[in-house]
Amino acid sequence: MSEHKRGQEPKNVFWQRGAISRADRETRRGHRGCVLWFTGLSASGKSTLATHVEERLFDEGYFTFVLDGDNMRHGLCEDLGFSPEDRTENIRRVGQVAKLFAEAGAIVATAFISPYRQDRDRVRRLMSREGDFVEVFVSCPLSVCESRDPKGLYRRARAGEIRDFTGIDAPYEAPEAPELVVETQDREIAECVEQIVDFLRANGYIEYMEAEAVPQASARA
Ligand code: ADX
Repeated sequence: MSEHKRGQEPKNVFWQRGAISRADRETRRGHRGCVLWFTGLSASGKSTLATHVEERLFDEGYFTFVLDGDNMRHGLCEDLGFSPEDRTENIRRVGQVAKLFAEAGAIVATAFISPYRQDRDRVRRLMSREGDFVEVFVSCPLSVCESRDPKGLYRRARAGEIRDFTGIDAPYEAPEAPELVVETQDREIAECVEQIVDFLRANGYIEYMEAEAVPQASARA
């Protein structure tokens, strides 16, 4: 076993600075990177919104990527379950990946229940630049999520076949000050997508940057 403890400075390894800065990448792409962190109950609409927002932005020429809970649990996080510790580790890993994508200049849309406030706040603090983390609370009553039940998981959780299911016998801590709250009950997907895109435009995330507003390649150290 390694002596290294999570969260501590690793021993005998050194941060390697690349030749291309984030600003260089963003200048090339014409927009800034950021993380749209969708959080909410299972079946609240996170993946649907992340996918549709990505499609909309991609079609407008933005560099985008989606990180989805179910998908990540097939690979990078395949060793994790749904205990509080495993969910925390899930969000820690995904937060690191999301950060890398943002550094690469992408608009990353993540779709994870991410039920614990502390875990989401840790990802927010991880970001290298103010405003990189846009918390989007996908708000939908449990009863509505349960009636949607696209994967039949709520039914199985109620039947006791799945333990620690969020909203049933595991907690969900709603964000206290998210950048955006999107209500998905009784609303068209397109309307919710517009709300998110409007926010990004109003807050300068998807306005094309003026060339002089970002450091030029010659300013590299
Ligand atoms: S998180 O809590 O660690 O953020 P994540 O978003 O990766 O969860 O995965 C949630 C998905 O896993 C749900 O959409 C659902 O399909 C599936 N799932 C399986 N078991 C559970 C469970 N006990 N609680 C919540 N989701 C579960």
